[in-house]
Amino acid sequence: MNLFKVAIVGAAGLVGREFLAILEERKFPIAELVLFGSENSSGEILEFRNKSIQIELLNEENIEKAGVDIAFFSAGALVSQQFSPSFVKSGATVIDNSSAFRMDAAVPLIVPTVNGELLDSFPASGIIANPNCSTIQLMDFLSIVNEIYALTRITVDTYQSVSGAGIKGIDELQKQTLSLLSGSGAGESAVFPQRIAYNVIPHIGAFRPNGQSEEEMKMVLESRKILQLPDLKVDVTTVRVPVFHGHSEAVTCHCEHAVDIDAIKDDIISHPRLKLLDDIDELLYPTTVDVVGKDAIAIGRLRYGNGGEDEHVLQAWVVADNLRTGAALNAIMIAERLVEARG
Ligand SMILES: NC(=O)c1ccc[n+]([C@@H]2O[C@H](COP(=O)([O-])OP(=O)(O)OC[C@H]3O[C@@H](n4cnc5c(N)ncnc54)[C@H](OP(=O)(O)O)[C@@H]3O)[C@@H](O)[C@H]2O)c1
Repeated sequence: MNLFKVAIVGAAGLVGREFLAILEERKFPIAELVLFGSENSSGEILEFRNKSIQIELLNEENIEKAGVDIAFFSAGALVSQQFSPSFVKSGATVIDNSSAFRMDAAVPLIVPTVNGELLDSFPASGIIANPNCSTIQLMDFLSIVNEIYALTRITVDTYQSVSGAGIKGIDELQKQTLSLLSGSGAGESAVFPQRIAYNVIPHIGAFRPNGQSEEEMKMVLESRKILQLPDLKVDVTTVRVPVFHGHSEAVTCHCEHAVDIDAIKDDIISHPRLKLLDDIDELLYPTTVDVVGKDAIAIGRLRYGNGGEDEHVLQAWVVADNLRTGAALNAIMIAERLVEARG
């Protein structure tokens, strides 16, 4: 089997560390792993396969010296925009976790179990975009619903954990919670637009003039691109909740054809990335506690809409680990698909 020289850009971040763990777990065929960071983390040591690897400073000289085959980027959109072309120039395939290239028509936006076939003719180097975490966890489910029942509209409300905003998001919830519990007030809100401890904030990313937030627009546009349904109607409200890990989403699917819920359940059970947790008699439905540190996207509360009367409307509750399933794992599955295609 071919072995690859792989880089992680943003290795010390939340998603970066998840990359290290999953590459090791899945025995990705790596000849050498190169870690990159900013001045903050360069020089730090991280462990991979019982070896210590020092994080290198991300700059043009070090990129050229590294000469990697595959680079996973998880360091924000500006870093991706600035440095991924240099990796591509040096012959690498960049798999980018940021929003920098997702809506670029020339860049494939991939959930491997939904539209992975788009990678079959991908050139030896270039950029592939990994979707937003809240988009990724919906795509497999929406794809199986669409395949048989033809989606016409989806409505989604998200309940997104603070780790979606990186290490600083976790720090802010921790600090505010401890401060409030010790009677010292919440303190400042630097990461989130309002106090996040014991609060719920319907605002993720900047607001656009149309009233939609950036996070909402990502879900609208990325869903249409991945599902290859450019006219799909998509209504989204994205909400930050005081949960450390795991995103939950309530989704309502409007379909052209009447939905058979038992058949959908069978499709979920046999799907490689989905897990059915749905038995209201046993009070069984997924929560973030069930998914953190796990690969599966958990689905429950399947029911008909409009008070249970409309068989053309399917409601569901979809929960996943945003750092793993919604970021690093999807990106690594993209790389696995490429490796397979390239023999
Ligand atoms: N968190 C999620 O749930 C999630 C889900 C999907 C996608 N993403 C995307 O993944 C990316 C990382 O998110 P995260 O949650 O891991 O954030 P994070 O915990 O804040 O980590 C960000 C990492 O980026 C690195 N970085 C920043 N500027 C850099 C530079 N100039 N050169 C090299 N490295 C630099 C930082 O390195 P230092 O430690 O050296 O400062 C840090 O390790 C973002 O683009 C985010 O949108 C996140």
